[in-house]
Amino acid sequence: MNGGDGECSYNRMSVVQEYALHGLQPFFSEAVHQMTLPHQPQHQNDQIQLHEGVPCLRLADFGSSTGRNAFLYMEFLVTRIRQEYKHRNLHMPEVQVFFNDLPGNDFNSMFGLLPPIKHEDGESGRVRDYFAAGVPGSFYGRLFPKESLHFAVSLHCLHWISQIPTEVTDPESPLYNRGSCWIMGGKLSIAQAYSEQSKSDFQKFLHCRQVELAPGGILFCYMSGRTDFPDPTNQTKPERRHRFLAGPDFEDTWEDLIAEGIVTEETRDAFNLPLFCLAVEEVQESIAKTGGFEVIRLEVLEDLPLCPDEMRMNLLQNPKKCAKYYSSWVRSLVEPLMTAHMGSECTDAWFVRHEQRIAARCRAMLGDAQAQEDYKFFSADFMLVGLRKL
Ligand SMILES: C[S@@+](CC[C@H](N)C(=O)[O-])C[C@H]1O[C@@H](n2cnc3c(N)ncnc32)[C@H](O)[C@@H]1O
Repeated sequence: MNGGDGECSYNRMSVVQEYALHGLQPFFSEAVHQMTLPHQPQHQNDQIQLHEGVPCLRLADFGSSTGRNAFLYMEFLVTRIRQEYKHRNLHMPEVQVFFNDLPGNDFNSMFGLLPPIKHEDGESGRVRDYFAAGVPGSFYGRLFPKESLHFAVSLHCLHWISQIPTEVTDPESPLYNRGSCWIMGGKLSIAQAYSEQSKSDFQKFLHCRQVELAPGGILFCYMSGRTDFPDPTNQTKPERRHRFLAGPDFEDTWEDLIAEGIVTEETRDAFNLPLFCLAVEEVQESIAKTGGFEVIRLEVLEDLPLCPDEMRMNLLQNPKKCAKYYSSWVRSLVEPLMTAHMGSECTDAWFVRHEQRIAARCRAMLGDAQAQEDYKFFSADFMLVGLRKL
């Protein structure tokens, strides 16, 4: 993700991910309702437990990025958990929230955005009623002590695989991804290699969280998902491909660059997007292999809007603005990958062409209200996974 607070930073462009919070609230509530709450003893006879220390509620956000979304999600979650304590007539302990991301994440920007902590003498404005800490490291490995967490979330992250399968990048291999930068609508064998990588990553993630969560703790994941189980080349239904982040416009932009001699075919072929949308059946397989979890919820929510309808329709009235917005959103997600692959000059050129393609697509629909209505820009299928540690 792009750090800082520039025009194409994840912080500015993550409005799309922020919008998801509205839809997720009932699912968060459902999960909170199922969690075991650490609390201080209620009865005198329980005092003996005090030597074990005053409990603390620990939440972790895996893949929190640089943006303000992580704080919004955590604020909502802490408030919802507070209500649950009240509802169960329990005393709520102090709360600690850990924000995890890769070491290269712009943690400085993130901490700069952290709201001030609430003091007992009261404070006006937006404040936070939890202690915060950053935890750098890959969530595909262990990051916390055993049974130390009570609620773990990972939002908009687990569709990013840890690495491209090695055969896919080897020009001598039959799985070399020649002529493409991703798997949608491509060779089944290549998409299957991605699927194996993604399942193995997800299983590692589950295993680590299984160890780190206290019994009765919750793991809540939200990521891109797909509905076509047997065929991983159908990362989204064919009629929805054009609106996918890495849909035809993404592939065609590479063709533009090649046609103009800005990059070679080899440069494009060597670039592979580390993205994979798992199907429910694949997630089920990983959960079963890991063991130790009870499934609270596991489903793909189809065709979810990523922004309010009014905003989408307003953008579509102005192709230039729409293209700028959409392309900047894609840029906030993949620019660092592209720059690392081909340098900033070619990456800039890539995004100029990408913007032009999106603008042309929008321009073709101007004045056609039905086409605009049907063009569900900014919508996608999402996987929801709610697990309770046994
Ligand atoms: C699209 S952002 C999501 C940010 C935030 N959770 C939200 O919903 O807006 C995905 C984040 O996952 C992080 N990420 C990807 N792979 C990771 C890994 N293996 N370990 C930790 N973080 C990772 C990326 O660095 C990025 O910040």
